[in-house]
Order: sequence, then C-alpha cells, then structure tokens
Amino acid sequence: MPSAFETLKKLAPTVSVGVLTADLMSLGSELALLDQTDVSILHFDVMDGNFCPALTVGPAFIKAVKTPLLKDIHLMITEPVDKLADYVAAGADIVTVHVESTRHVHRALQALGQMTNANDPERGIARGVALNPGTPVETVEPLLDEVDMIALLAVNPGWGGQRFIESTLRRIEKVRRLISESGRDILIAVDGGITRDNVAEVAKMKPDIVVTGSAVFDGKAPVENARFMLDAL
Ligand code: DX5
Ligand code: ZN
Repeated sequence: MPSAFETLKKLAPTVSVGVLTADLMSLGSELALLDQTDVSILHFDVMDGNFCPALTVGPAFIKAVKTPLLKDIHLMITEPVDKLADYVAAGADIVTVHVESTRHVHRALQALGQMTNANDPERGIARGVALNPGTPVETVEPLLDEVDMIALLAVNPGWGGQRFIESTLRRIEKVRRLISESGRDILIAVDGGITRDNVAEVAKMKPDIVVTGSAVFDGKAPVENARFMLDAL
C-alpha cells in the first residue's frame, strides 16, 4: 500500500478541491459529482477565528465526510500541536500546519510524523507546512527534514474566492531552490485565488498541488470546472 506521500507524488501535478466552497446543503451530491472527474484530493480549510478571521469546521465535520478521496486538512488554527490527533482521528491523509500558528512548528511536524493514518495504518500522514503570503520562504529551511509538502498561500487566509497574489509565482521558484539545495523529496502546493483565468500561468511554475475551491464549486459546472483545472496542469 503506497503511503499518502507516495500517492501524492504519483498524482502530481494535481488539484486539491476546497470542500467549503461546495453547496454544504447538498455536500453529498456535490462531492459525488467529482466521481466523474480525476479529482483525488479534498481540501478542508479549518479556521478557528483566531489564526484568521473566519471560523469554519473541525474534526467532527471532517469525520462526517465519507469519501474515498484523500483528505487534505489545512489547519489555519492557533497552537495546533495538541489538536493534531483529533484531525488525524477524523481521517486526515495530509495535515498542513502554518509556521505562523505556533512557536513549536517543528515539534508539531515531529508529532505528526508519529501518528497513524485512521483510514489505513500503512498510508501514513503526509506532513505539510504552510506559509502566509507575508512570511519569508526561508522560514521553512529548518523544517525540511520534517515535511513532505510546502504550501504557499496565494491569498491571506480566511476566505475562498480572493484574488491571487502575484508574488506567489516567484515564491514558488524560491521554495523550489530551497528544496533542491536540501536534496529532499518535497512537494510544492499553492493555495488560494487560482481560477480558470490564471491556472495556466500558475501551471507554468510547475507546482505539484494546486488548491482550488471557488473555481470548481461555482454553483454551475463543478465537473467541467474540475476537468478544466486538472487539464491545465
Ligand atoms: C484560504 C484557503 C484556501 C481557499 C481556496 O484561506 O486556505 O484554500 O479557501 O479557495 P479559492 O480557490 O476559492 O481561493
Ligand atoms: Zn486552504
């Protein structure tokens, strides 16, 4: 059984679709639409109203979502260390913590590395670290031995449907250089503000995972949207 990280590597370049931009009143049927596409990853934006202004969902919601797709949990919460186990128990395959969310981000990643995937003990947990647009890319340098993925936020965390921050493109290059200097096998994700209009430009920077919410669940044509975004990569 390949690990979550090996599966992500095989899937890359791919999209991780933001669940919260779906019509939550019909989430089951909205997610079932994705069965008609090659979407393999669902992105859950967990926000605590403290790390960022919005308050969204927690482990109970994530656990309630029954899906064969990988659960990609983006923790926009303050002091995540003691809460990681709840998200892993809720079925996380990927857990991404923000460097800005705790003094002990290295410890958070070490703790994640000891946890067992609730879906399948063989799968492991893919460990991500995320950077807000204003956080220097160099911040991840001491963490490179503890991560499988570096996620660059292309919007300031808190909402879907925001405008892509252009400086993210050169930040992708910087992260790629850091990774190649480290000789580590680490995936690059870009999260937020990626739409039909700019996905081709983002794809040129060869990210491994593009997180996209409102460009897929726009209330009109999620299947076509998802196929378009996947084809663009
Ligand atoms: C922002 C979240 C993003 C966002 C993506 O705080 O981390 O995942 O919801 O949604 P879109 O693709 O609509 O910007
Ligand atoms: Zn996100």
